Amino acid sequence: MSQSWTPQSWRQMTRHQMPDYPDAARLEAVEQTLASYPPLVFAGEARKLEEELGRVAKGEGFLLQGGDCAEAFADFNADKIRDTLRVLLQMAVVLTYGGGMSVVKVGRLAGQFAKPRSAPMETVGDVELPSYRGDIVNGLAFTTDDRIPDPARQLQAYGQAAATMNLLRAFTQGGYAALTRVHEWTLGFLDKSPQADRYRDFADRISEALSFMRACGVTDLNTPEITRTNLYTSHEALLLGFEEALTRIDSTSGRWYDTSAHLLWVGDRTRQLDGAHVEYCRGIANPLGVKAGPTMPADDLLRLCDVLNPENKPGRLTVIARMGHELVDRHLPPLVRALKREGRNVVWSCDPMHGNTIKSSTGYKTRPFDRILAEVRSFFAVHRAEGTHAGGIHLEMTGQDVTECTGGAQAITDAVLQDRYHTYCDPRLNAQQSLELAFLMAEALKEERQSLSKAS
Ligand code: PEP
Ligand code: CO
Repeated sequence: MSQSWTPQSWRQMTRHQMPDYPDAARLEAVEQTLASYPPLVFAGEARKLEEELGRVAKGEGFLLQGGDCAEAFADFNADKIRDTLRVLLQMAVVLTYGGGMSVVKVGRLAGQFAKPRSAPMETVGDVELPSYRGDIVNGLAFTTDDRIPDPARQLQAYGQAAATMNLLRAFTQGGYAALTRVHEWTLGFLDKSPQADRYRDFADRISEALSFMRACGVTDLNTPEITRTNLYTSHEALLLGFEEALTRIDSTSGRWYDTSAHLLWVGDRTRQLDGAHVEYCRGIANPLGVKAGPTMPADDLLRLCDVLNPENKPGRLTVIARMGHELVDRHLPPLVRALKREGRNVVWSCDPMHGNTIKSSTGYKTRPFDRILAEVRSFFAVHRAEGTHAGGIHLEMTGQDVTECTGGAQAITDAVLQDRYHTYCDPRLNAQQSLELAFLMAEALKEERQSLSKAS
């Protein structure tokens, strides 16, 4: 680890999962252009998110983080952004009303473009080409044209992130996310599902509570929280040249912020203590996440806390455990105990997606919904047993009616995965599965509160 940090100091360290650009001059020119562009988010917003996450770390809230595995250029439109937001808003209502927790909403969007891959090259027949690394790097089609990393894609990704951010700001601040519209967020295709009935019941009760509050004088005029909400953005800090170009000094605090998103996380494949990604992230003042898979030793996690959160500030660091449904019971408790023993303040979040990916009998990459639920249940159980707060969830999900993960109330089978399998990378929960999971977590949060109040 170099002693003095600069936005470029990661360039001295070993880089993993970064593309080889054949045209270095073109790459540099693009990075310079990006460095001249306006920020996508503001430092003050990132600080507000850190404060909110600080409350989550203390057990006073829940982090809901979700969105696409990979955003795509060809799949970019207002309806899609709105539908993902709608599901996040619905899930937040279920968690707040059913679980009795304030919810911090963070999208995996407006910049979630770069992907780590298990192999740098892909071979089809006797042709070998670079693996697809997300639209910000190269294209999905198996052609030389698409697969050779193209720096210009970073400019397109910036533009798409900016437009997405703009729409999200309009939706969340302009009235669409008003609690008085809680009924309107239901998506058409959800209408006849069991989750929709449960949701409508919650929405009815919220509407009644709002009428009561209005009668008592609490209105959107004196309580703007009724009509406005915050949705923060996040993505994996993977393509470091892009992140560096958007790293700016904040004039208020004099600290460096990555203005490409509010929260950045380090992936499970790039969390090496002496690697470029940890080096870059340690110097930015944004709240950070770090993924922890089953191969993470407790000592490494402690060292990562030292490096990424030297001041042990609550809200600065979220540990996103992604163990796999069968491994949580064995691998999560040692991590939780080590951090508790050393008094480390973190938000504990659960990614039940990345440890539960399998190949279906029909050849699709999928994730059985019952395994996802099993991992979430075990995550809550571990925290209840250790007396720590199950602080959040990290999901790959969409508001579209896709068939990518098997199971759930619609009982999606291997045979129907092909019907609406649209993801550019990993399989996502559809709206109905996301809502079903939110109800399960609301119950678990209620149980956590009950067991805490019994213990005290
Ligand atoms: C991801 O979140 O898309 C991802 C690649 O996860 P992980 O780093 O946990 O494998
Ligand atoms: Co993924």
